[in-house]
Amino acid sequence: MSMIEKLIEERKLPELLKFADGRQVTAENWEERRQEILEILSLEEYGYAPPAPKETKVVSEDAKMPYSDFAGKAVSKTLTFTVETDCGEFTFPATEIVPISDKPRRTFVLINFRPEVPDRYYPTEELIDTGCAVIQLYYNDIAFDGRDDFKGGIAPMFDRKKYTWGKIRMWAWAASRVMDYLQTADYCDKEHVAVVGHSRLGKTALVCAAFDTRFAMACVNNSGCSGDSITRGKKGERIRQITHNFPFWFCDNYQNYIDKEEEMPFEQHWLVAAVAPRKVALGSALEDEWADPESSYLSACAASPAWELNGKAGFVHPDRMPEVGDYFAEGDIKYHLRGGKHFLSRKDWAYYAEALKSI
Ligand code: GCU
Repeated sequence: MSMIEKLIEERKLPELLKFADGRQVTAENWEERRQEILEILSLEEYGYAPPAPKETKVVSEDAKMPYSDFAGKAVSKTLTFTVETDCGEFTFPATEIVPISDKPRRTFVLINFRPEVPDRYYPTEELIDTGCAVIQLYYNDIAFDGRDDFKGGIAPMFDRKKYTWGKIRMWAWAASRVMDYLQTADYCDKEHVAVVGHSRLGKTALVCAAFDTRFAMACVNNSGCSGDSITRGKKGERIRQITHNFPFWFCDNYQNYIDKEEEMPFEQHWLVAAVAPRKVALGSALEDEWADPESSYLSACAASPAWELNGKAGFVHPDRMPEVGDYFAEGDIKYHLRGGKHFLSRKDWAYYAEALKSI
């Protein structure tokens, strides 16, 4: 047994490639298993979301930005979207920065903490230079990131008895509405759209791509607890703390596993695997102990069989734990460990842009 296999075995993870009824998962029934995983994660962790609306309408476009058009290298626009909900219309904005080119652009959907462009998590000019377009939504425009009894934003637009979604799923759902629009956007290379987010929004990006197969890749930065990090044996943040500080990110059932991680009928590497056979790029930072880089890395290792099953490479990595500067990009799961703290840095973006251009 390899060193990594041993470390994974010590975490006593629930089986990824076995159905709840004990059947073995094969390449042929992987999609059925993927649906089962998504069902369990909806029931136990993130809650159920309403189905996609019939239409996501662009109701206004504002081509005027308080910034220049980045030395004439890109066109920027703020769009307003409207969707029909069970309680009338819900409207939210998003800002796109599209490099000037006559070819379709690979596109990032960035779920961000602030609406401004540029932003400290959005190095705009560097990204324009990669040739990729970015469309950014601001998470508080969808649902307020705080205790509001689900009274604001999209939350009260649906019956909570029917749809138990926490805010992570609400933000992810909104990123899917941006994807609805991208299906109609001339500039967008529809086969190469990635969803990207940092920390709580890294969790969101991963959830979004797991549920929405139109995304070719999820770029998941420092997502940690309830994101890409395996919960069993995890250091730093645990279910007790996350559900105490941010109960509204999840459905109520998640609280059943406070200090009972070993009883969870699921694990976070299942969420990573639910993106298979598409791509995932995971990013950790050495000093981000709260997120626990080791548990993210082992999660990538443990998720790999979902790709291997489909005859794909999965996660290609050496038989050791990662070191600062490592970037394992060969397989379908990409992973990097950079030095420094919890942040979505230019360095992380450089890896994600390289990954999006390589797929
Ligand atoms: C808190 C939280 C983390 C989260 C982070 C963030 O630290 O405990 O789970 O990832 O905030 O979103 O920045």
